[in-house]
Amino acid sequence: MISKWTFFPGLIFLALWLPAAATRPAAQNAVNQEESKVKPYTLPDLLTGGNGKKALTVQDWEKWRRPEILRMLESEMYGRTPKKRIEIRRQVIEEDTKALGGKATRKQLALFLGEKLNGPRLDVLIYLPNQAARPVPAFLGLNFNGNQAVHSDPAILISRSWQRENRDNGIIDHRATESSRGVDASRWMVEKVLARGYAVVTACYNDMDPDFDDGFQNGIQPLFYRPGQKTPAADEWGAIGAWAWGLSRILDVLEKEKAIDARRVAVHGHSRLGKAALWAGAQDRRFALVISNDSGCGGAALSKRNFGETVGRINTSFPHWFCTSFRKYNDREEALPFDQHMLLALIAPRPLYVASAEEDLWADPLGEFLGAKNAEPAYALFSKAGLGTDRMPPVHQPVGDFIGYHIRAGKHNITEYDWEQYLKFADRHFQSK
Ligand code: GCU
Repeated sequence: MISKWTFFPGLIFLALWLPAAATRPAAQNAVNQEESKVKPYTLPDLLTGGNGKKALTVQDWEKWRRPEILRMLESEMYGRTPKKRIEIRRQVIEEDTKALGGKATRKQLALFLGEKLNGPRLDVLIYLPNQAARPVPAFLGLNFNGNQAVHSDPAILISRSWQRENRDNGIIDHRATESSRGVDASRWMVEKVLARGYAVVTACYNDMDPDFDDGFQNGIQPLFYRPGQKTPAADEWGAIGAWAWGLSRILDVLEKEKAIDARRVAVHGHSRLGKAALWAGAQDRRFALVISNDSGCGGAALSKRNFGETVGRINTSFPHWFCTSFRKYNDREEALPFDQHMLLALIAPRPLYVASAEEDLWADPLGEFLGAKNAEPAYALFSKAGLGTDRMPPVHQPVGDFIGYHIRAGKHNITEYDWEQYLKFADRHFQSK
């Protein structure tokens, strides 16, 4: 029989526990965040192909191993990007050569995607430094919350896209309002980047595919459907694929901008947008440098290391990010025929920077470092030095040559410290070009 003493404490416990559990995002319950509980795992060898042969030269890598890895990541994780070309109309909406107190030229372009006039529209914001004597390199990254969030400049067009609700940031009823201007300015450091001689280029990721699961009806995917197709096939792209596609379309635009040197464009992104930046850099080799800021699971962090977010968690919380084939690895990471070091290796021999934050355990800082570390053999084929160390460096001690890495103090975010390192890294690699 249940005595009142076993019953009541149970009820009290439930009453205390339930509200706390309800406010915690479901996907963040019960994942391992203790180093001592990481189980042994084996990474697939980067250079050994499905036929057991090892890639020993750049030619082997380029001819069969790289394409083999790319195909695996396409069909099993991010989904294939359709080959079909859609109609894209480009229109300059606004231009001001005396923006930001005369320091910059601001240009805003709209890309109308597909044949319909009321179809998806990608709004691109470009700031060019006015002092430049020759075409400048650029930092290109997607933003959360809309272009108006990256700087308080009142002339930036307010995003028309669906946005994640965030009243504190001026996103109300899923729409950006005036009060969202500049809310993410500290993550973009526009003036600082311009002063260092780079163009700043951005667009909102929701323009390509709004970041919620609607069965792929309201983003760009329908523009690519075959007759009768209603949703992407199991091995076709999800939202991250669409966001990466958008980055490549912006690079097409930059190739036509005379003031920009499109051979020196760094693609960067934070968190889910870091995953998109890596996938864009892996597929589109025109990106000259790739930066992953706290990209975590599905980005730079190894999936087979059971620390922080897992494949099952990410596919449950965000079922629209990857292709449906990826779900077969939910709670079965050991069965993955690849891991994220292989994604990073696709960027070789181009410079790659991976950054972590000490308190960002959900993204697994050590897993991000090890992703970068295990990409090194691909760089070695090109005689490019990688991180230059086997050990994770302490906070605020950046390492690396063609693969850069740092971990900074603090939370999941992009800070001035991160930007300092990206600018130094880009200066070093772009100056020689
Ligand atoms: C969630 C998600 C991560 C993602 C992050 C972000 O925490 O689980 O995978 O990187 O959101 O985009 O901020």
